[in-house]
Amino acid sequence: MSLIKEKVDLKPYNTFGIEARCDFFAEIRSEEEFLELIQSTVYKNNKKLIVGGGSNLLLTGDFKGLVIKNSIRGIKIVSEDEENVLVKVAAGEVWHEFVQWCIGREFAGVENLSLIPGCVGAGPMQNIGAYGVELKDVFVSLDAIGIYSAERRLFNREECKFGYRESVFKNEFKDQFLIVSVTFRLSKKPILNTSYGAINAELQAMKIVRPGIKEVSEAVINIRRSKLPDPSLMGNAGSFFKNPEVTAVTYNKLKSSYEGMVAYPLANGNFKLAAGWMIEQAGMKGFEWHGAAVHVKQALVLVNKNNCKGKDVLELSEIVIKKVFEKFEVRLEREVNVVA
Ligand code: EPU
Repeated sequence: MSLIKEKVDLKPYNTFGIEARCDFFAEIRSEEEFLELIQSTVYKNNKKLIVGGGSNLLLTGDFKGLVIKNSIRGIKIVSEDEENVLVKVAAGEVWHEFVQWCIGREFAGVENLSLIPGCVGAGPMQNIGAYGVELKDVFVSLDAIGIYSAERRLFNREECKFGYRESVFKNEFKDQFLIVSVTFRLSKKPILNTSYGAINAELQAMKIVRPGIKEVSEAVINIRRSKLPDPSLMGNAGSFFKNPEVTAVTYNKLKSSYEGMVAYPLANGNFKLAAGWMIEQAGMKGFEWHGAAVHVKQALVLVNKNNCKGKDVLELSEIVIKKVFEKFEVRLEREVNVVA
């Protein structure tokens, strides 16, 4: 079938810029193309990997199966009133282009999520978040198709079971659904979220007195550009690890040993520890391993500094986990989807 290509290099399809091949590759541009693909023997007989922007993906070797690139595009206003607008966005839309689309129309809610790499469909998978806002805050529902059943299913917010960089699609429904579109509720009467300290500081530096969503977006873009490597210049997948959650008892014990410990109190009484700070304290910032490295400006990010392999990044992550555990007795968890 014409949709399917063989032996495709996946380097352009993962922001780590890792060279790996897949046996079969299909780029789908509509729901119909996906339903057509499902009928093929290649689809039926092979393990499948769905990619969007490939920005949360670490390929540790060639993929023995079918890679499906979701390139379904389109943004549509579903309904609106004086306060809100419901927007349905196809999964293959580039996230930041969607954010800019919203800002251009004065639709508020996603400005703090500016410049997050990847596609819209990947957003709910791990409930993307930054600067005090998470995708779940503006999420209404998503449309999906079962990878095995080919059945359509609508998921509301509760059914997605969103958590910190978590959803049902990373857990019990991992590799079970193709996300077709996501519906968001955006506000025409913005309540800006500048509680995240760095945003206010940046707005001040920009000499903005009365910010709107455009200015908040610009502040976020400035902060991200100052810390996070541009994947088109140096391969990476954003934060490689999650910020670990610990009990107040553990946090207080750590705080008494490490005065500068950076942590955020959570509603459930626990604390979220800044993993980047711990990695830096463990002496790992800038550490290199066979072309993979801990980013010099943000230790939570691992980078493909010099043509490394996926397994080099994975090994580096093991070293980081070990060093942090030795120093703090806290075990870091990966955020990135590691594909063998
Ligand atoms: N820090 C250090 N050294 C470092 C890195 C961080 O000391 O090398 C300290 C910072 O000074 C700061 C604290 O750790 O006091 C937190 O750092 P930062 O504000 O950069 O945020 P983060 O907790 O490291 C999280 C998200 C990012 C998101 C930012 C802003 C996770 C896993 N990461 O990072 O998300 O942009 O907050 O909200 O929750 C991503 O998921 O890919 C991502 C980039």
